[in-house]
Amino acid sequence: MRKKIVAGNWKMNTLPAEGVELAQNIEAGRNEVCECVNFIVCPPFTHIAMVAQTLKDSTVELGAQDCATEAKGAYTGEVAASMIAALGCKYVILGHSERRQYYGETSETLNKKMAQAYANGLTPIYCVGENLEERDAGNHFAVCKQQIEEVVFNLTEEQFKNLVIAYEPVWAIGTGKTATADQAQEIHAYIRQVLAEKFGAAAAECPILYGGSCKPSNAAEIFAKEDVDGGLIGGAALKTEDFLAIGKGFSK
Ligand code: PGA
Repeated sequence: MRKKIVAGNWKMNTLPAEGVELAQNIEAGRNEVCECVNFIVCPPFTHIAMVAQTLKDSTVELGAQDCATEAKGAYTGEVAASMIAALGCKYVILGHSERRQYYGETSETLNKKMAQAYANGLTPIYCVGENLEERDAGNHFAVCKQQIEEVVFNLTEEQFKNLVIAYEPVWAIGTGKTATADQAQEIHAYIRQVLAEKFGAAAAECPILYGGSCKPSNAAEIFAKEDVDGGLIGGAALKTEDFLAIGKGFSK
């Protein structure tokens, strides 16, 4: 049985006090949702410590949205994986399309970040996904395969056991456009097949999340698909009711 995960990527939203309030509300409503659902929140770096304090007795887990390529030292403005791990983060989102697109992150960058994450006991949530042009040209399979081959294929078998993948079509992120449940299933199954080429049976255990305008009205249909193990949620993760309602979307 693969883990069911609903992870909130808060991106560059909320001030510290708002983040704490959001975490408090999620925690307060968490018992309305099946215990089988693993909730994760990923606040901005600035409020991870405060949110960690808020969630210290909670089953809601904590992640960061990024980490540095290096362990420590003279890298002004960067945040090391060891620092976020020390605050209580269990996860780190890596390779989000916004990082690839706006901050020029390449597979080379991401291989270093993955190494830092594992060296500090963090589970990466590694994002892959094609843009609209690539989808229209029918290249979405090839794009996802390359993003996996160039980074995930460098992991050891042990590391691979602690990995979450998020498939996030760039054309669906923050646009209100969602992949259909069938589109999601098609590519999730494909990603699992690519993973199996390298990691064999362990690929069946790897959670693959869908991300991109996931909301209460479409989560249930998408999560019902065989190879979809939950969601990486942006906009809807900022509203407690929506975030929890997405968790209720699990019926399997
Ligand atoms: P969205 O973002 O739910 O706002 O589309 C998802 C993501 O980028 O992780």
